[in-house]
Amino acid sequence: MDSTVFRTRSHGTPAEGVKDQYADGKAAKVWEFFIGDIKQRTQNYRDFLVGLLRQKGCHRILDVACGTGVDSVMLLEEGFEVVSIDASDKMLKYALKSRWERRKEPAFDKWIIEEANWLTLASDISHLIGEGFDAVICLGNSFAHMPDTFDDQREQRQALVNFERCVRPGGLLLIDHRNYDYIINTGQTPPKCIYYNSEHMMDIKTSVLFVSGKPKIVTMDYMIALDNRNKNNIEHVNEFRLSYYPHRLTVFRDMLTEIFSHGAKHIIYGDFKPLNQIKDPGFYIHVLQKQL
Ligand SMILES: C[S@@+](CC[C@H](N)C(=O)[O-])C[C@H]1O[C@@H](n2cnc3c(N)ncnc32)[C@H](O)[C@@H]1O
Repeated sequence: MDSTVFRTRSHGTPAEGVKDQYADGKAAKVWEFFIGDIKQRTQNYRDFLVGLLRQKGCHRILDVACGTGVDSVMLLEEGFEVVSIDASDKMLKYALKSRWERRKEPAFDKWIIEEANWLTLASDISHLIGEGFDAVICLGNSFAHMPDTFDDQREQRQALVNFERCVRPGGLLLIDHRNYDYIINTGQTPPKCIYYNSEHMMDIKTSVLFVSGKPKIVTMDYMIALDNRNKNNIEHVNEFRLSYYPHRLTVFRDMLTEIFSHGAKHIIYGDFKPLNQIKDPGFYIHVLQKQL
Protein backbone atom coordinates (compact mmCIF):
# COMPACT_ATOMS: atom_id res chain seq x y z
CA MET A 1 0.00 0.00 0.00
CA ASP A 2 1.29 3.47 -0.82
CA SER A 3 1.57 5.76 2.19
CA THR A 4 -1.04 8.26 1.01
CA VAL A 5 -3.15 6.60 -1.66
CA PHE A 6 -4.65 3.14 -1.65
CA ARG A 7 -3.66 1.58 -4.97
CA THR A 8 -5.94 -1.05 -6.48
CA ARG A 9 -3.73 -1.80 -9.48
CA SER A 10 -0.08 -2.43 -10.20
CA HIS A 11 1.84 0.76 -11.08
CA GLY A 12 1.50 1.63 -14.76
CA THR A 13 -2.08 0.42 -15.19
CA PRO A 14 -4.31 3.22 -16.50
CA ALA A 15 -7.12 4.49 -14.32
CA GLU A 16 -9.16 5.89 -17.21
CA GLY A 17 -10.97 4.24 -20.10
CA VAL A 18 -11.54 0.49 -20.02
CA LYS A 19 -10.08 -0.48 -16.70
CA ASP A 20 -7.78 -3.24 -17.84
CA GLN A 21 -5.98 -4.31 -14.69
CA TYR A 22 -3.72 -6.48 -16.80
CA ALA A 23 -2.57 -3.58 -19.00
CA ASP A 24 0.92 -3.35 -17.51
CA GLY A 25 1.53 -6.92 -18.73
CA LYS A 26 2.89 -8.01 -15.32
CA ALA A 27 0.24 -10.61 -14.59
CA ALA A 28 0.10 -11.74 -18.22
CA LYS A 29 3.83 -12.37 -18.21
CA VAL A 30 3.80 -14.66 -15.18
CA TRP A 31 0.31 -16.11 -15.73
CA GLU A 32 1.74 -19.34 -17.10
CA PHE A 33 3.70 -19.78 -13.85
CA PHE A 34 0.68 -18.82 -11.78
CA ILE A 35 -1.50 -21.45 -13.44
CA GLY A 36 1.22 -24.11 -13.64
CA ASP A 37 1.39 -26.67 -16.42
CA ILE A 38 -1.71 -26.09 -18.56
CA LYS A 39 -1.72 -29.76 -19.46
CA GLN A 40 -2.07 -30.54 -15.77
CA ARG A 41 -5.20 -28.60 -14.90
CA THR A 42 -6.59 -30.02 -11.69
CA GLN A 43 -8.37 -33.23 -12.60
CA ASN A 44 -11.42 -32.17 -10.56
CA TYR A 45 -11.76 -29.05 -12.66
CA ARG A 46 -11.36 -30.79 -16.00
CA ASP A 47 -13.78 -33.57 -15.01
CA PHE A 48 -16.31 -31.10 -13.66
CA LEU A 49 -16.30 -28.70 -16.61
CA VAL A 50 -15.96 -31.15 -19.47
CA GLY A 51 -18.34 -33.66 -17.81
CA LEU A 52 -21.04 -31.05 -17.27
CA LEU A 53 -20.78 -29.58 -20.77
CA ARG A 54 -20.99 -33.06 -22.36
CA GLN A 55 -23.82 -34.18 -20.10
CA LYS A 56 -25.85 -31.10 -21.15
CA GLY A 57 -25.08 -31.63 -24.85
CA CYS A 58 -23.05 -28.42 -25.18
CA HIS A 59 -20.79 -28.06 -28.18
CA ARG A 60 -20.36 -24.36 -28.98
CA ILE A 61 -18.84 -22.49 -26.06
CA LEU A 62 -18.21 -18.79 -25.41
CA ASP A 63 -15.35 -18.11 -22.98
CA VAL A 64 -15.93 -14.50 -21.89
CA ALA A 65 -12.78 -14.21 -19.75
CA CYS A 66 -10.33 -16.21 -21.79
CA GLY A 67 -7.25 -14.30 -20.58
CA THR A 68 -4.21 -16.13 -21.94
CA GLY A 69 -6.55 -18.86 -23.21
CA VAL A 70 -6.06 -21.64 -20.66
CA ASP A 71 -9.69 -22.73 -20.34
CA SER A 72 -10.34 -22.28 -24.04
CA VAL A 73 -7.35 -24.41 -25.03
CA MET A 74 -8.47 -27.17 -22.68
CA LEU A 75 -11.93 -27.14 -24.26
CA LEU A 76 -10.55 -27.10 -27.82
CA GLU A 77 -8.44 -30.12 -26.96
CA GLU A 78 -11.55 -31.85 -25.62
CA GLY A 79 -13.32 -31.33 -28.96
CA PHE A 80 -15.50 -28.28 -28.26
CA GLU A 81 -15.92 -25.36 -30.65
CA VAL A 82 -14.80 -22.21 -28.82
CA VAL A 83 -15.18 -18.46 -29.21
CA SER A 84 -12.97 -16.57 -26.76
CA ILE A 85 -13.11 -12.94 -25.74
CA ASP A 86 -11.29 -10.74 -23.27
CA ALA A 87 -10.84 -7.00 -22.75
CA SER A 88 -7.09 -7.16 -22.20
CA ASP A 89 -4.87 -7.20 -25.27
CA LYS A 90 -1.91 -8.02 -23.00
CA MET A 91 -3.64 -11.26 -21.97
CA LEU A 92 -5.07 -12.00 -25.43
CA LYS A 93 -1.60 -11.80 -26.93
CA TYR A 94 -0.80 -15.19 -25.37
CA ALA A 95 -4.05 -16.77 -26.60
CA LEU A 96 -3.38 -15.46 -30.12
CA LYS A 97 0.13 -16.90 -29.96
CA SER A 98 -1.22 -20.37 -29.01
CA ARG A 99 -3.69 -20.24 -31.88
CA TRP A 100 -0.95 -19.30 -34.34
CA GLU A 101 1.42 -22.00 -33.11
CA ARG A 102 -1.24 -24.71 -33.40
CA ARG A 103 -3.00 -23.37 -36.51
CA LYS A 104 -2.47 -26.66 -38.38
CA GLU A 105 -4.86 -28.41 -35.96
CA PRO A 106 -8.40 -27.87 -37.33
CA ALA A 107 -9.87 -26.96 -33.91
CA PHE A 108 -7.27 -24.21 -33.46
CA ASP A 109 -7.65 -23.02 -37.04
CA LYS A 110 -11.36 -22.45 -36.32
CA TRP A 111 -10.80 -20.88 -32.88
CA ILE A 112 -12.26 -17.36 -32.83
CA ILE A 113 -10.58 -14.85 -30.50
CA GLU A 114 -11.83 -11.27 -30.19
CA GLU A 115 -11.24 -8.29 -27.94
CA ALA A 116 -14.54 -7.35 -26.27
CA ASN A 117 -15.89 -5.90 -23.06
CA TRP A 118 -18.65 -7.43 -20.94
CA LEU A 119 -20.46 -4.08 -20.73
CA THR A 120 -20.93 -4.02 -24.50
CA LEU A 121 -20.57 -7.74 -25.19
CA ALA A 122 -23.89 -8.39 -26.94
CA SER A 123 -23.12 -5.70 -29.51
CA ASP A 124 -19.34 -6.35 -29.63
CA ILE A 125 -19.92 -9.92 -30.80
CA SER A 126 -23.44 -9.67 -32.27
CA HIS A 127 -22.09 -11.23 -35.49
CA LEU A 128 -21.09 -14.37 -33.55
CA ILE A 129 -24.06 -14.95 -31.26
CA GLY A 130 -26.53 -16.46 -33.79
CA GLU A 131 -29.12 -18.51 -31.85
CA GLY A 132 -26.92 -18.25 -28.78
CA PHE A 133 -24.10 -20.37 -27.42
CA ASP A 134 -24.68 -23.75 -25.78
CA ALA A 135 -22.65 -22.48 -22.84
CA VAL A 136 -21.01 -19.27 -21.68
CA ILE A 137 -18.17 -19.62 -19.18
CA CYS A 138 -16.67 -16.93 -16.96
CA LEU A 139 -14.21 -18.71 -14.67
CA GLY A 140 -11.08 -18.17 -12.61
CA ASN A 141 -12.57 -15.47 -10.33
CA SER A 142 -12.77 -13.21 -13.38
CA PHE A 143 -16.18 -11.62 -12.89
CA ALA A 144 -15.14 -10.11 -9.58
CA HIS A 145 -12.81 -7.84 -11.56
CA MET A 146 -15.82 -5.75 -12.51
CA PRO A 147 -15.97 -2.89 -10.00
CA ASP A 148 -19.09 -1.26 -8.63
CA THR A 149 -18.45 2.28 -9.86
CA PHE A 150 -21.95 3.62 -9.09
CA ASP A 151 -22.42 1.81 -5.79
CA ASP A 152 -25.56 0.02 -7.03
CA GLN A 153 -24.05 -2.91 -8.97
CA ARG A 154 -25.59 -1.64 -12.22
CA GLU A 155 -22.53 -2.40 -14.33
CA GLN A 156 -22.28 -5.91 -12.95
CA ARG A 157 -25.97 -6.42 -13.78
CA GLN A 158 -25.40 -5.06 -17.29
CA ALA A 159 -22.55 -7.52 -17.83
CA LEU A 160 -24.68 -10.44 -16.59
CA VAL A 161 -27.55 -9.36 -18.86
CA ASN A 162 -25.10 -9.47 -21.75
CA PHE A 163 -23.94 -12.96 -20.74
CA GLU A 164 -27.57 -14.10 -20.55
CA ARG A 165 -28.19 -12.78 -24.08
CA CYS A 166 -25.35 -14.91 -25.39
CA VAL A 167 -26.80 -18.18 -23.99
CA ARG A 168 -29.29 -20.09 -26.15
CA PRO A 169 -32.57 -21.16 -24.51
CA GLY A 170 -31.77 -24.29 -22.49
CA GLY A 171 -28.07 -23.41 -22.55
CA LEU A 172 -25.74 -22.82 -19.59
CA LEU A 173 -23.88 -20.03 -17.86
CA LEU A 174 -20.98 -21.13 -15.64
CA ILE A 175 -19.66 -18.31 -13.51
CA ASP A 176 -17.55 -18.38 -10.37
CA HIS A 177 -16.13 -16.16 -7.64
CA ARG A 178 -13.90 -16.70 -4.68
CA ASN A 179 -15.50 -17.22 -1.30
CA TYR A 180 -15.60 -13.51 -0.44
CA ASP A 181 -17.79 -14.12 2.62
CA TYR A 182 -14.83 -16.02 4.06
CA ILE A 183 -12.34 -13.38 2.91
CA ILE A 184 -14.39 -10.55 4.44
CA ASN A 185 -14.80 -12.43 7.71
CA THR A 186 -11.19 -13.55 8.08
CA GLY A 187 -9.17 -11.09 5.97
CA GLN A 188 -7.40 -14.08 4.39
CA THR A 189 -7.41 -15.75 0.96
CA PRO A 190 -6.37 -19.40 0.96
CA PRO A 191 -3.51 -19.63 -1.59
CA LYS A 192 -4.64 -23.07 -2.84
CA CYS A 193 -6.41 -22.84 -6.16
CA ILE A 194 -8.94 -25.36 -7.42
CA TYR A 195 -8.15 -24.60 -11.05
CA TYR A 196 -4.39 -24.62 -11.30
CA ASN A 197 -1.55 -26.89 -10.23
CA SER A 198 1.16 -24.29 -9.87
CA GLU A 199 4.21 -25.03 -7.76
CA HIS A 200 5.27 -21.38 -7.99
CA MET A 201 2.51 -19.77 -5.94
CA MET A 202 3.94 -18.56 -2.63
CA ASP A 203 1.35 -16.34 -1.08
CA ILE A 204 -1.63 -14.10 -1.72
CA LYS A 205 -1.50 -11.04 0.53
CA THR A 206 -5.04 -9.85 0.94
CA SER A 207 -6.47 -6.46 1.89
CA VAL A 208 -10.15 -5.72 2.38
CA LEU A 209 -11.20 -2.09 2.01
CA PHE A 210 -14.37 -1.12 3.89
CA VAL A 211 -16.19 2.10 2.99
CA SER A 212 -18.90 3.23 5.42
CA GLY A 213 -18.84 -0.20 6.99
CA LYS A 214 -19.34 -2.05 3.70
CA PRO A 215 -16.64 -4.16 2.02
CA LYS A 216 -15.96 -2.39 -1.29
CA ILE A 217 -12.71 -3.72 -2.70
CA VAL A 218 -10.49 -6.69 -2.06
CA THR A 219 -6.93 -6.45 -3.35
CA MET A 220 -4.69 -9.45 -3.70
CA ASP A 221 -0.92 -9.27 -4.03
CA TYR A 222 0.16 -12.47 -5.71
CA MET A 223 3.69 -13.61 -4.90
CA ILE A 224 5.09 -16.04 -7.43
CA ALA A 225 8.53 -17.62 -7.13
CA LEU A 226 10.18 -18.19 -10.49
CA ASP A 227 12.93 -20.73 -11.00
CA ASN A 228 15.66 -18.28 -12.01
CA ARG A 229 17.80 -17.68 -8.93
CA ASN A 230 20.32 -14.87 -8.52
CA LYS A 231 24.01 -15.38 -7.70
CA ASN A 232 23.22 -15.73 -4.00
CA ASN A 233 20.83 -18.56 -4.86
CA ILE A 234 17.82 -16.50 -3.83
CA GLU A 235 14.66 -17.21 -5.77
CA HIS A 236 13.33 -14.39 -7.90
CA VAL A 237 9.87 -13.47 -6.62
CA ASN A 238 7.39 -11.84 -8.97
CA GLU A 239 4.50 -9.84 -7.65
CA PHE A 240 1.38 -8.49 -9.21
CA ARG A 241 -1.66 -6.87 -7.68
CA LEU A 242 -5.27 -7.31 -8.75
CA SER A 243 -8.44 -5.97 -7.21
CA TYR A 244 -11.89 -7.45 -6.93
CA TYR A 245 -15.41 -6.64 -5.94
CA PRO A 246 -16.26 -8.91 -3.00
CA HIS A 247 -19.43 -10.72 -4.06
CA ARG A 248 -21.43 -12.09 -1.16
CA LEU A 249 -22.85 -15.48 -2.11
CA THR A 250 -26.50 -14.72 -1.42
CA VAL A 251 -26.40 -11.31 -3.12
CA PHE A 252 -24.73 -12.72 -6.22
CA ARG A 253 -27.16 -15.66 -6.29
CA ASP A 254 -30.14 -13.28 -6.16
CA MET A 255 -28.72 -11.05 -8.91
CA LEU A 256 -28.35 -14.10 -11.18
CA THR A 257 -31.88 -15.29 -10.36
CA GLU A 258 -33.27 -11.86 -11.21
CA ILE A 259 -31.48 -11.77 -14.57
CA PHE A 260 -32.14 -15.35 -15.64
CA SER A 261 -35.72 -15.25 -14.28
CA HIS A 262 -37.11 -17.70 -11.77
CA GLY A 263 -37.65 -20.38 -14.44
CA ALA A 264 -33.92 -20.97 -14.80
CA LYS A 265 -32.27 -23.85 -12.93
CA HIS A 266 -29.52 -22.61 -10.64
CA ILE A 267 -27.11 -24.91 -8.84
CA ILE A 268 -24.21 -23.64 -6.75
CA TYR A 269 -21.12 -25.75 -6.13
CA GLY A 270 -18.31 -25.16 -3.62
CA ASP A 271 -14.96 -26.18 -5.11
CA PHE A 272 -16.98 -28.42 -7.52
CA LYS A 273 -18.78 -30.22 -4.70
CA PRO A 274 -22.43 -29.87 -3.62
CA LEU A 275 -22.61 -27.14 -0.99
CA ASN A 276 -23.70 -29.51 1.78
CA GLN A 277 -20.51 -31.53 1.31
CA ILE A 278 -17.98 -28.74 1.79
CA LYS A 279 -17.15 -26.26 4.53
CA ASP A 280 -15.49 -22.94 3.64
CA PRO A 281 -14.83 -23.61 -0.04
CA GLY A 282 -12.27 -21.43 -1.81
CA PHE A 283 -14.59 -20.82 -4.77
CA TYR A 284 -18.29 -20.87 -5.54
CA ILE A 285 -19.29 -21.99 -9.02
CA HIS A 286 -22.79 -21.06 -10.23
CA VAL A 287 -24.35 -23.15 -12.99
CA LEU A 288 -27.45 -21.64 -14.55
CA GLN A 289 -29.58 -23.32 -17.16
CA LYS A 290 -31.63 -20.80 -19.12
CA GLN A 291 -35.32 -21.51 -19.50
CA LEU A 292 -36.34 -23.19 -22.78
C1 LIG B 1 -8.33 -13.90 -13.69
S1 LIG B 1 -8.17 -13.67 -15.43
C2 LIG B 1 -8.78 -15.26 -15.84
C3 LIG B 1 -8.44 -15.81 -17.15
C4 LIG B 1 -8.75 -17.28 -17.35
N1 LIG B 1 -10.19 -17.54 -17.31
C5 LIG B 1 -8.01 -18.14 -16.35
O1 LIG B 1 -8.64 -18.80 -15.51
O2 LIG B 1 -6.79 -18.17 -16.41
C6 LIG B 1 -9.53 -12.58 -15.70
C7 LIG B 1 -9.70 -12.06 -17.10
O3 LIG B 1 -10.94 -11.31 -17.14
C8 LIG B 1 -10.73 -10.24 -18.05
N2 LIG B 1 -11.72 -9.17 -17.83
C9 LIG B 1 -11.87 -8.43 -16.71
N3 LIG B 1 -12.84 -7.51 -16.89
C10 LIG B 1 -13.32 -7.69 -18.14
C11 LIG B 1 -14.33 -7.03 -18.91
N4 LIG B 1 -15.04 -6.02 -18.41
N5 LIG B 1 -14.56 -7.47 -20.17
C12 LIG B 1 -13.84 -8.51 -20.69
N6 LIG B 1 -12.85 -9.16 -20.01
C13 LIG B 1 -12.59 -8.75 -18.76
C14 LIG B 1 -9.33 -9.78 -17.75
O4 LIG B 1 -8.79 -9.02 -18.82
C15 LIG B 1 -8.60 -11.11 -17.50
O5 LIG B 1 -7.92 -11.59 -18.63
